[in-house]
Amino acid sequence: MTYDNPALTVVTDEVHPGALRWRSPSNIALVKYWGKYGDQLPRNVSVSFTLQNAATDTTLHYAPRRGSGAGVDVQLQLAGIPEPKFTARTQTYLERLLPVYPFLRQLELRIETQNSFPHSAGIASSASGMSALALCLVSLEEQLFEPLPDRAAFLRKASYLARLGSGSACRSVYGGAAVWGRVPDLSDSSEAYAVSIAEQLHPTFRSYHDDILLVSRSEKVVSSRAGHGLMEQNPYAPPRYAQANARSQEMLGLLQRGDTERFGQLLESEALTLHALMMSSQPAYTLIEPNTLHVTNLLRQFRSETGYPVYFTLDAGPNVHLLYPEAVAGPTKRFIREHLLPYCEDRMYLADRVGTGPEQLEVNQTTPA
Ligand code: PMV
Repeated sequence: MTYDNPALTVVTDEVHPGALRWRSPSNIALVKYWGKYGDQLPRNVSVSFTLQNAATDTTLHYAPRRGSGAGVDVQLQLAGIPEPKFTARTQTYLERLLPVYPFLRQLELRIETQNSFPHSAGIASSASGMSALALCLVSLEEQLFEPLPDRAAFLRKASYLARLGSGSACRSVYGGAAVWGRVPDLSDSSEAYAVSIAEQLHPTFRSYHDDILLVSRSEKVVSSRAGHGLMEQNPYAPPRYAQANARSQEMLGLLQRGDTERFGQLLESEALTLHALMMSSQPAYTLIEPNTLHVTNLLRQFRSETGYPVYFTLDAGPNVHLLYPEAVAGPTKRFIREHLLPYCEDRMYLADRVGTGPEQLEVNQTTPA
């Protein structure tokens, strides 16, 4: 499956300068993607909730390019500050998209991007950032050429493009929840893009909370890219991929039925399995920190004392996501404030929840709260 299209070129004299803007959220994997092959294709199926508050707001300005050059002409500012490192990374990404969008070489691109969460929060911005940019690019295609047949086709293409930037970003283009990888029960599911499962979510999960406890705001010592690479030699990789595929299938059923207990058991096992894979890589590494374990131990105690279905998950880092239903939000937030914040850097946490998905914004509009 490919979107390569050499016909998508413009007559530069006919292009009027313009800008497009999207706000796109981050997502939290319930069943983790860890291990990839080929052109950023996943070794196993993954399932995620899309978040509401942790998001990237990106504006893509375009104008006809004066003179010609081999690569893509792009400049990027993060929160108003020119970012040579992100500019270089974005340029590499856009050049990789040239078979899909050859017109990118014919334009001068300026990207303004900012995250809703503090830059140094230790929260990965690649899923929100890459999905926001991919959505801007598909909007740009529509502006310069024809509209895509419908919204589903639009989001699918954005998901495909986001995947090429950062695998997990392909799940962020849909509100609610998404699946990436081929699942027998989902006829349109694919390794090339994610599909929405929002319609199938039980009401309990539609309003689920995800509070992100910022145990450490430092940058990761081992990148996700390196982590995926180490899976190729990991002795546990083959059974892990089989496990993740089976769990994704099971997770879909749990999300439909509203089974918060089994959901939580799978959620925690997925988090610990992800980190066990890191610890069993060669070279081995650990991203969790002592305070990660303090938090998860206290959480287990809280759960056994109250019976509330509050469970944790982890991303590729030490921060702890607490997932729980609206019905227990009051006492859970009190527990977080009183017992868990001492283990967070500067007592910081981000209150988030399952969200409605990306939103296209007017270019001069202030960001909605
Ligand atoms: O999208 P990447 O390449 O940054 O990989 C992210 C992988 C995890 O966040 C650890 C899990 C996931 O499925 O999001």
